[in-house]
Amino acid sequence: MRIIVENNYDEMSRTAAGIVADEVRRKPDCVLGLATGSTPLGMYRELIAMYQREELDFSGIKTFNLDEYFTLPPDHPQSYHYFMFENFFNHINVPKEQIHLPQGTATDIQKACQEYEKAIAQAGGIDLLVLGIGENGHIGFNEPAERLQVGTHLADLTEETVRVNSRFFPSLPKVPRQAVTMGLGTILKARRILLLANGLRKAPAIKETVSGFITTKCPASLLQVHPDMTLILDREAASLLKNQI
Ligand code: GLP
Repeated sequence: MRIIVENNYDEMSRTAAGIVADEVRRKPDCVLGLATGSTPLGMYRELIAMYQREELDFSGIKTFNLDEYFTLPPDHPQSYHYFMFENFFNHINVPKEQIHLPQGTATDIQKACQEYEKAIAQAGGIDLLVLGIGENGHIGFNEPAERLQVGTHLADLTEETVRVNSRFFPSLPKVPRQAVTMGLGTILKARRILLLANGLRKAPAIKETVSGFITTKCPASLLQVHPDMTLILDREAASLLKNQI
């Protein structure tokens, strides 16, 4: 695992954007896996700026998002669909039909999850997957548990995640308790993974992620087995790492 520690959030975002941009230039029809949350926002802003300066062309890429809240329709302001269009897709030239997100409102969720896996495989698999991390070590919505699921599935959110994510909702009861997420197998099949984290609140989960041990109590720790995995951190998120850097 490669660990890059930057001084602050903006530098972390620029470094991440630089890696994504290099991938898009190297392979204009690459398949990107994308995350939501406050962490990758700066990276999206950098990529949009590169597109506006005509340094990048997204017309050939395909995207697959990690997760979506169960029951939220795409036009719901707190849905991840809405987030991605507002913060990224509406500002670049990726054609709509090349954008994929799990469907939170599918009538047959099981079938929709299988189709999502199939669509990723048909696209040739994910070339570069960008991840954030939850304070409890979750990736996508794969929460700490005794057993972790391999493929895309409907997941129950922990109380802690519901509480942490309630900052984006008008009130706690409005936060969905379930979400459709790529599984650990879907994530680990990506050819290259970037995990971004900033701030002190993420430091314990990051420590666990590079601990040298794997535990389903910290789903991100499984990333240690991946052959091409890069962590991009700010100083605060890296503050509990000593010998690893
Ligand atoms: C959510 C998402 C994750 C994301 C995490 C961290 O639970 N499902 O994909 O990584 O939150 O979010 P933030 O970047 O806002 O800290």
